[in-house]
Amino acid sequence: MKLQVFIHVTTILLWHFMDYATAFPYPATCGNRPLASHEFGSRIVGGKDALPGTWPWLVSIQQPIDEETFIHMCGGSILNTRWILTAAHCLKDQANYVYSWRLVFGGNQLSTFGPEMQICGISKKIVHENYDSRTECNDIALLSVDRPISYNKHIQPACLPRKTSDVTLMTDCYIAGWGVLEEEATEPSDILQEARVEMISNKRCNSTAWYNGAVGIYNLCAGYDAGGIDSCQGDSGGPLMCKEPKAKIFSVVGLTSWGSGCAQARSPGIYTSTQYFLNWILDKIEYNPTNKKHEDMISSHLG
Ligand code: ARG
Repeated sequence: MKLQVFIHVTTILLWHFMDYATAFPYPATCGNRPLASHEFGSRIVGGKDALPGTWPWLVSIQQPIDEETFIHMCGGSILNTRWILTAAHCLKDQANYVYSWRLVFGGNQLSTFGPEMQICGISKKIVHENYDSRTECNDIALLSVDRPISYNKHIQPACLPRKTSDVTLMTDCYIAGWGVLEEEATEPSDILQEARVEMISNKRCNSTAWYNGAVGIYNLCAGYDAGGIDSCQGDSGGPLMCKEPKAKIFSVVGLTSWGSGCAQARSPGIYTSTQYFLNWILDKIEYNPTNKKHEDMISSHLG
């Protein structure tokens, strides 16, 4: 009887350990979604609750409002055990306050802290040198974590698109984030929201009744002509993720940047193209595919 209990307890402990141990048995590549074999269809505005583990590279960037409480501000994506990709406008005017912020990994419902989740601080921020808050040109930034992230089933690095893939032809695209569920709302969503969106050409997005030329070549435009489904306040910095027609994995092709209102007709979401800034990103994180130490970096293997 005692032995049975012992074996039982040991098994549970072992499982637990296997689930959350640092040396997690996944290949050190990007885009793994160990828990996302389940079918998902298709708020963000007009989205639905994401199932835990669906987008394991998603990060909640949080700001302290008092000694114990943090509030979700922006989204981000895990690039490797050290670096997070986000939008520059999430960090502007924040001077050195970002060093009091925290990053939450592996989250789904932010109000509950599960054993699969990790929290860390920020040790360095790199905002694009030519970020312009008036035009939202070069709306991209990197944050390094104050201790390495350890991967588990809920925490995995994202892939970035290859230089050669045509992201505008990607058809299977999703956005995800803890942003507000309606344009006028003030509180971020507690549960991660996801929504399927369509890639819209920059040409169409720049037409007179739409954004009238405000969308740059460094942007991607995604959503719906009629509105209804879109990213919104608090989704910024978070990913626009697409799969190439026959590919298995999603790549983070865009970072939520701006829009006119949220989910309005002819005003889809505007995203910073990660492909456009690929060299900038790889340069800043000192990516070197031939360096063994960089094995866990994005794409020994770009998605
Ligand atoms: N700038 C917003 C933020 O800071 C994101 C806005 C996205 N807007 C949109 N209509 N898609 O969270």
